[in-house]
Amino acid sequence: MFSRAIVRRPAKSLVNGLTSANLGKPDYENALIQHEGYINALIRCGLEVTILDALEDFPDSTFVEDVALLTPHCAIVTNPGAASRNGENAFIKPALEKFYQQIEIIKSPGTVEAGDIMMVGSHFYIGLSERTNKSGAEQMIALLKKHGLTGSIVNLKEFLHLKTGINYLENNNMLASGEFLTKSEFQQFNLTEIDTDEAYAANSLWINNKVLTPKGFPKTRQKIESLGYEIIEVDVSEFEKLDGGLSCLSLRF
Ligand code: GLY
Repeated sequence: MFSRAIVRRPAKSLVNGLTSANLGKPDYENALIQHEGYINALIRCGLEVTILDALEDFPDSTFVEDVALLTPHCAIVTNPGAASRNGENAFIKPALEKFYQQIEIIKSPGTVEAGDIMMVGSHFYIGLSERTNKSGAEQMIALLKKHGLTGSIVNLKEFLHLKTGINYLENNNMLASGEFLTKSEFQQFNLTEIDTDEAYAANSLWINNKVLTPKGFPKTRQKIESLGYEIIEVDVSEFEKLDGGLSCLSLRF
C-alpha cells in the first residue's frame, strides 16, 4: 500500500514537450485542469500528495515518475536519457530528502527513466529503451541489490517506456499490450491483453486496491473491472498528446 505521492505542476512550456503521438499540441489551461483532477484521484486513493512547482526550463517535467525510483528501502534518482529532460533529476532530490534517508544516484554514462521500471513486490523489471541504457540498468540493479531488492532487464522495441505497455495491478494481475504479451518473464502472471486500439490504457495505475484508468477506453475499463477492482477514470488527454500516461504523472510511495 502507498501513503504518499509527489507530483509536479505542468509548466507552460509543456506545449513543447517531446512526443511521437501525432495528437496535436496540448492545451496548457486544460492540462492544468486535468492535472488537478489527477491529484484528486490520488487523494481518493488515500494518498497525501506533495505538489512541486512547475519547471519552465523542462517541458516534460510534469512526468515526474521518470526522475526517481522510490522503493520501500531507498530512493534512487535517475539520469534521464532524453537530452531535453536531463537536468530534471537535480530538482527532485530536495523533495525526496524530506522522506528518504537513503538516496542513491544513477551516474553517466548510465541513463535511466523510471517509466522504464515496473515494481512487482521486491523485484524491479527494467526496460532497455531509447531512454534507459545498459549501464543505467546495471547501476540500478546493483543499487537495488545493495538495499536488499532485485532487478532484471527487459528488452523492448515498440514502446517509449516499459510501463507504456505493461503494468502490474498487484495480486498477480498484469496488463500487457503488444510485445509484452509474449515475453517469457511475464508468463507467470495473470496477463490481461490490452487491445492495440486501446494500447494507451495499458498504462493504468494500481493504487491501494483501486485502479486509475484513462478516460475513454471502455474495453480496458471493463476488463479491469472484471478483475474485481474499483475504477477511477481520469481524463489525461492533454498528457496523452505527449506520450505521457497515468503512472508518469506521479511518484507513489
Ligand atoms: N513526453 C514525455 C517524454 O517523452 O518523456
